Amino acid sequence: MTLRLDYSNMMILPGGIDQKLWASAGTQFAAAKRGFDSLRIGGSVGFVDLPGDKRLLDQVTRFSASARGKYDDVVILGIGGSALGPVALRTALRPSGWNMLDEKARGGYPRLHVLDNVDPETVAALLERLQLTRTLFVVTSKSGGTAETMAQFLIVHDRIISSKLDVTKQMVFVTDPKQGALRPLAERHKVPALDIPPNVGGRFSVLTPVGTLPAALIGIDVESLLTGAGEMARRCERADLATNPAGVYAMLQWLADTQLKKSIAVFMPYSDPLRDFAAWFVQLWAESLGKRRPDGTSVGSTPVPALGATDQHAQVQLFMEGPADKTVTFVAVRERSTDLKIPLAFPDVKELGYLAGHTLAELIDIERRATAGALAKRGRPNMTIHLDRVDATHVGELMMFLEMATAYAGHLYGIDAFNQPGVELGKQFAYALLGRPGADAAKTEWESLPKSDPQWSV
Ligand code: PA5
Repeated sequence: MTLRLDYSNMMILPGGIDQKLWASAGTQFAAAKRGFDSLRIGGSVGFVDLPGDKRLLDQVTRFSASARGKYDDVVILGIGGSALGPVALRTALRPSGWNMLDEKARGGYPRLHVLDNVDPETVAALLERLQLTRTLFVVTSKSGGTAETMAQFLIVHDRIISSKLDVTKQMVFVTDPKQGALRPLAERHKVPALDIPPNVGGRFSVLTPVGTLPAALIGIDVESLLTGAGEMARRCERADLATNPAGVYAMLQWLADTQLKKSIAVFMPYSDPLRDFAAWFVQLWAESLGKRRPDGTSVGSTPVPALGATDQHAQVQLFMEGPADKTVTFVAVRERSTDLKIPLAFPDVKELGYLAGHTLAELIDIERRATAGALAKRGRPNMTIHLDRVDATHVGELMMFLEMATAYAGHLYGIDAFNQPGVELGKQFAYALLGRPGADAAKTEWESLPKSDPQWSV
């Protein structure tokens, strides 16, 4: 069965969305959908069409087939939207502890490392562990100019050259077909390069070679991932709100934030394989929706990742009794790839006896239901995304569902979900401090900032 969103606990009273508020949801959604459709028709937003893009799939299939058996390690050099998708896919769709398994247990597929930062401790430690001749570096950057990724690239490139290895065998680029520094380098130095379509931005790019190439390299069923995403795109294109899961999710989150002051959106899978998926969602929601509207007002709910049942012993106390400013989205998984029965021992010890005969899958699911019920009882709205299992089809569905919900929410908030002007000033300051040509204005602005004052330091 396909993904199902149960939002009964969003409609609870008091605390949830009342019928009066929901009555106009269909009309409001129709306007948001018209806005999103016009971006798609105009060609400026392309992520919904990725599942049907045979040319991109072909690039991935051909490259990954040619790489089979040649590498023990694949390393993604990238950050943000170029890194979080591959991590989420690896954790969700490969056996637990993938990088610690031996080659046989990995079915001959390589380990997958994703840098997603420029902390020298991590970068140096990873490079130290790798055998360069058996490593493929996937340099992933849509813009082909992100400082962190370019720095990673320069360091690794230097290692390859100084080890007298062939860059064209140890590297592949994933980048825009025209823009940025990587594409001309690929052409000049004959480095293989796969495309990120110009109308797909970083955080919406997991179904391009940004996600599908690493996935294919480590043996994930990319076709099923895309099939699941394509089926979900069709459901989420429906004009009728009641049958459109992404539309409903966007409406609920937007109404909860703007009408009920629920400005924090917790995303809480009860599934270790979906642990890194939560980080992917957080970036998608935060960078897309945290914006200033044309009238100068700031909008966007703050996504918070959580993990069930672990966070029942950490954040759930806050969700239950802290400020009533949150919605919680649970992800429930019906079938797990394995299960363990809890054995009967010490039947007379009340803390142990009642657990016997249940399985861990039952326990984690009962805990989810209990937490959702307890939140509802306290007037804390929550909803549950139900998945049959964490496989490529369902993960594809879940990704497309959340991407389309984010896009619709962008229109409801009246902002552009596909840009990120807020990070520009920090980038310009960093360029100025690093001495990048053309950053003179930023340098002047930086120098005019108030300096750190010792009286405010302890
Ligand atoms: O979602 C986004 O657009 C960003 O998070 C980018 O993915 C991130 O800044 C990296 O950009 P690029 O892929 O251009 O190197």
